[in-house]
Amino acid sequence: MKVLTVVGARPNFIKMAPVSRELQKSMTEVIVHTGQHYDYELDKIFFDELQIPAPEYHLGVGSGSHGYQTGEMLKKIDGIIAHEKPDIVLVYGDTNSTFAGALGAAKMHVPVAHIEAGLRSFDRRMPEEINRVLTDHISDLLFCPTQAAVRHLAAEGITEGVHLTGDVSVDAMKAVAEIAEKRTDVLADNGLSKKGYSLATVHRAENTDSYLNLSNIVDAFSEIGDVVLPVHPRTEKYLKKFNLWDQLADHVKIIRPVGYLDMITLEKNARMILTDSGGVQKEAYILNIPCITLRENTEWVETVADGWNVLVGSDKDRIVGMYRDFRPASSPKNVFGDGNARTRIREIIEEYSA
Ligand code: UD1
Ligand code: UDP
Repeated sequence: MKVLTVVGARPNFIKMAPVSRELQKSMTEVIVHTGQHYDYELDKIFFDELQIPAPEYHLGVGSGSHGYQTGEMLKKIDGIIAHEKPDIVLVYGDTNSTFAGALGAAKMHVPVAHIEAGLRSFDRRMPEEINRVLTDHISDLLFCPTQAAVRHLAAEGITEGVHLTGDVSVDAMKAVAEIAEKRTDVLADNGLSKKGYSLATVHRAENTDSYLNLSNIVDAFSEIGDVVLPVHPRTEKYLKKFNLWDQLADHVKIIRPVGYLDMITLEKNARMILTDSGGVQKEAYILNIPCITLRENTEWVETVADGWNVLVGSDKDRIVGMYRDFRPASSPKNVFGDGNARTRIREIIEEYSA
C-alpha cells in the first residue's frame, strides 16, 4: 500500500517525524514537500535532526499570499497524485500545505487522512481555522488528539472515520526526550541558566502584521526583560518594518529559530513560556511549564481548563501582569495521550486500505 504525505511547514515536519518512521514499517510512503518553508532553520534542520527521509517531490512554492501559495501547491499536487496513484493522502495540522494536500487528493477521489483533526479556535479570522475546518470536511480518516476534537467534529456532523488516537506531538517529544535532556549547549551558548529565563515565540499573523499588537508585545517583553526569543522570519520582517527591532534587541535575547531538540531543551528549562504558537502551548503543558498565550483564543482548550495556560492577547499590561502573577495551582493532567498515537494511526490506515 502507498501513502502520499504532503507537508510544507515547520510544525508539519515535527509531527510527521515519528509517524513517518512508523508507517514505513509496513507501507510505502512518498513524501511531498510543498516548499512553504524553505530557510534552513525552518525546514532542512528538522529533516536532518529528526531523520525524516528526503522528500521524493519538492514543489518549491515558497512565500506569497494565501491564494498564491494554495493555488501553486494544488496545481503541482494534481500531477503527482495522478502519477503516484496513492491509496491515501496524509496531511498534518492546519497550514496552507495541509489544506492544499487535502483538497488536491479529494478532487482526485483519493481518500484523505488528517492528523490533528477536530481542532477549533472558533476564530475564522485565523487562516489556520479555515484550513482546519475545510480539511476536516473533506477528510475520510480523522485522527483526533483529544476528546474535545472528537466533539467538535460531531458538532459539525462528522462522525464517520473519526478516531481518537492521542496527539502525535507526544510521540515526537518522547522520541527526543533523552537526547534533549543531555543537550544543554543551547543554554551555555546563549548564556542561559536553568530556570533563569523565559522563552517566547511570536509568529501569528494577527500579532506580527499589526503595529499595535506587535508594539504592545515588544513593550511587554522589554519590561519583563529576561526573555529569549527564537525569532520567526515573519516576525523579524515586521519588527524591522515597524522599527521595533532595536528596542526589542536592547531588552531581549533574540536568537535565530532553533531546531526541535534545542527548542525542547529551551522549553524544558524555561521559567515561563510566552507564545502565540499552537505547538508550543501544548509542549509547555506536557513539560509542566506555565504558559502565557499571546492570543484571545486557543484550539488547545484543555491547557487553559487545566490551569496551565492563560490567554492574554497582545495587551501589554495583561502580559506583564500575568507574567508576574501566574502560578498554576495543580499538576497538569495527561490529556494528549500516551505517546503511541503513531501506532494507532498506522493500524487504522492499514485496516482502512485493506
Ligand atoms: C505558517 C502557517 C502557520 C504555522 C507557521 C509555522 C499557514 C497559513 N500558516 O505560518 O499556521 O503556525 O507556518 O511556523 O499555513 N518566511 C521566510 N522563510 C521561510 C518561511 C517563511 O522568510 O522559510 C517568511 C516570508 O516572509 C513569508 C512569511 O515568513 O512571507 C510567512 O510565511 P508563511 O509560510 O506564509 O506563514 P507562516 O507565518 O510561517
Ligand atoms: N519550534 C522549533 N524551533 C523554534 C520554534 C518552534 O523547533 O525556533 C517547534 C516547537 O517546538 C513546536 C513547533 O515548532 O514543536 C511549533 O511550530 P510553530 O510555532 O512554528 O507553529 P504552530 O504550532 O503555531 O502551528
